[in-house]
Amino acid sequence: MRILVTGGAGYIGSHTCVELLSAGHEVVVVDSLANSSAVALTRVEKIAGRSLFFRQVDINEKAALKSVFDEFAFDSVIHFAGLKAVGESVEQPLYYYRNNFCGTVNLLEVMESYAVRRMVFSSSATVYGEADSVPIPEQSSLSATNPYGRSKLMIEEMLGDLVRARPNWNIDVLRYFNPVGAHESGLIGEDPAGIPNNLMPFIAQVAVGKLDRLNVFGEDWETPDGTGVRDYIHVVDLAKGHLCALETVKETGGLRVYNLGTGTGSSVHEVRKAFEKAAARAIPFEVLGRRPGDVAQCFADVSKVERELGWKATYDLDAMCQDAWRWQSLNPDGYSKV
Ligand code: NAD
Ligand code: UFG
Repeated sequence: MRILVTGGAGYIGSHTCVELLSAGHEVVVVDSLANSSAVALTRVEKIAGRSLFFRQVDINEKAALKSVFDEFAFDSVIHFAGLKAVGESVEQPLYYYRNNFCGTVNLLEVMESYAVRRMVFSSSATVYGEADSVPIPEQSSLSATNPYGRSKLMIEEMLGDLVRARPNWNIDVLRYFNPVGAHESGLIGEDPAGIPNNLMPFIAQVAVGKLDRLNVFGEDWETPDGTGVRDYIHVVDLAKGHLCALETVKETGGLRVYNLGTGTGSSVHEVRKAFEKAAARAIPFEVLGRRPGDVAQCFADVSKVERELGWKATYDLDAMCQDAWRWQSLNPDGYSKV
């Protein structure tokens, strides 16, 4: 298949490109490089031993996007392109709605005009808002607690409307839980701008000496050790989930929604200790108050994706930490010092 990967230079996109190339697909990446580096794509080619096509295009630029569709005939689109910083989305909601929501409208319009009606979309467990119970199945009630989450929810609802109006569209919505880790080569990984917001990259930067200590946001949650529990999933497992979705496309069209997680929750202290083992060093920490907007526990019910796609996560927390550490220690400044 020839596949357009929007946001393919980013963290999850680059790992997915490796899997697509390795499976023999032809890959065209469109990325504005708003939050990524083209170096990642060179590394992808090195790992896969094959080339891809890259066009530096913002999906909000319709003419530029169309020119990519003029150049290549696509079988399918995997749509990663989007901004993902929750705090920034609270500060700049219109920027997030423009980029994530309007960008997706633009992309869908261009796809329709070129009769490309197959999309895999990156959604997030954030659409479950404050879930009533765990593990969380796909049919749980949905809500948003910030503009980033609302942009994902709005896109999911728009995709539902599109498929109802145009039943020949084929759309998979994949709700990621907490992607972590890196490719085992140590060549590609997560490269957050500034101080990381998320737990694993923050711990990795403490381990490599760029940050003094981990701030643990609350030890008074209703969880076994009092710290927040999340469903961490290795980014390579996540990438493979996209291939499973692509390869099990329904003949009839329609919209499918799947959780991508391991189905198991880990606490902040469990992640910290697993990372200490992987990096063979202590991670100093301090317990602070709760972070606004956090929930106690969030982990996936993965029975639907296992049953229908035959996909199951394979990497455990130790492997996630080992791979994250290899990436961080080999590339302490990410792609910027290449
Ligand atoms: P990332 O920032 O590393 O990758 C996103 C890529 O999209 C970047 O390369 C960025 O330059 C590009 N991009 C952004 N706006 C663009 C635009 N208008 N036109 C073209 N390119 C654009 O993030 P990621 O972690 O790889 O996330 C990929 C997708 O998965 C995002 O949609 C994100 O919201 C979603 N997601 C991520 C997580 C997570 O924790 N990483 C969790 C759930 C969902
Ligand atoms: N945490 C700390 N210290 C830190 C960072 C995080 O203690 O420095 C804790 C949090 O309080 C939480 C857990 O570690 O209990 C995980 O936090 P992350 O920020 O890594 O992940 P979240 O589950 O809060 O959110 C992430 C993304 C969201 C996405 C969600 C579900 O940031 O955008 O996963 O996919 F919606």
